[in-house]
Amino acid sequence: MSNSLNPTILLTRDGTPTLQLPNSEVTYHSIHGALSEAQHVFISEGIASLKVAPDQAIEVLEVGFGTGLNAALTLLWAKENNRTVHYRGLEPHPIAASFWEDYPWKQGSVELAEALKQMQSATSGSKGVQMGGSTFQVDHRSIENFTQSSKGYDIIYYDAFAPSHQPELWTKSLFTQLRHMVRPGGVLVTYCAKGLVRRNLMAAGWNVEQIQGPPGKREMIRAIHHPVSRFNVRVYGMILDETGERLLICNERLPDGSYAQKFPGGGVELGEGVMDAWWRECQEELGCQPAMQSVELFHTVETFIRSIFRPDDQLIALYYVCRLQSNEDVAWTEESAASPGGESNVQVSWKDWRSLDFRSFRFPTDQSAIQKLQANSTISQ
Ligand SMILES: C[S@@+](CC[C@H](N)C(=O)[O-])C[C@H]1O[C@@H](n2cnc3c(N)ncnc32)[C@H](O)[C@@H]1O
Repeated sequence: MSNSLNPTILLTRDGTPTLQLPNSEVTYHSIHGALSEAQHVFISEGIASLKVAPDQAIEVLEVGFGTGLNAALTLLWAKENNRTVHYRGLEPHPIAASFWEDYPWKQGSVELAEALKQMQSATSGSKGVQMGGSTFQVDHRSIENFTQSSKGYDIIYYDAFAPSHQPELWTKSLFTQLRHMVRPGGVLVTYCAKGLVRRNLMAAGWNVEQIQGPPGKREMIRAIHHPVSRFNVRVYGMILDETGERLLICNERLPDGSYAQKFPGGGVELGEGVMDAWWRECQEELGCQPAMQSVELFHTVETFIRSIFRPDDQLIALYYVCRLQSNEDVAWTEESAASPGGESNVQVSWKDWRSLDFRSFRFPTDQSAIQKLQANSTISQ
């Protein structure tokens, strides 16, 4: 088929074949084992991990149908578990049916070899494969041109080429498009566990888990479309001392026993103004409401952020820069200590804000606020 990428055959370490693009290192599966990777990522940690009622059909979307291995394994899984599956594979570069005649598939069961043959003949045509009530279809469109069917998918097998080869398939905007294609609670699994992929999935609203990867790979990603159901508005003060040289930092023991470096502040409660909430938090954490020369809104987190502690909550965080009227009014020093009258689980101290490492803050919203402060050279004037 003229649209094919003209790959060649390569044997992987578990003895099963994969394809490799000409003049490149790009392969269709992990070289550590095509079968073991597909079985682990898409079956054991994918479809087999779903919570779908036993009498309900499972809707699967595969991005990058390739050799049809994931589809063949899914067919066998459906048979063994007496499940109905409706499978849609996307493949903009289908390979000609004649290519598969010499495909050296010798591993695994006879059933798997048979299922793979069926899938490979489905790749080039449009008739698809039927087994019991299950259906398997290959669509020769790319994911960018694919629009949602009426029902949401239960799971997306995201098996595109690696970000180094096709970065356009691992972006926040594409992951947002994919999130709209799954039902609430729907899942996306992928072999790729790169930080950029994880961050883009999170920014697109997915709840991301890094789990044990297949042989030869430490981690893989399973992302869940866990819809948020409420806003959680947070307000924080970046309190500078009288001279503007030092910044007040809290070290708080959280309910889970861990510690987090953060700014004084917390959640706005219903019936409270944003500043009412901030002064209340000041009283609780610092034990006082010191007089300020100025209090100005400095930073608002504009991206989607899910609460680490409450996955139903979407965070909206506001940061105010405040300048203390007089250092004499407060007891805080460079030594970390609980404020007189403040909560005992919060220790506070002055720090030279220019030399703070943003990574020492636990929460990404605080990290972005301190980075913005450090980039703003006029703040202490
Ligand atoms: C890593 S391989 C997939 C391996 C495949 N799942 C298998 O079991 O053999 C990536 C696949 O994505 C396909 N592909 C490339 N661009 C694509 C796009 N924009 N949308 C969907 N699939 C794409 C490639 O043709 C290739 O078959």
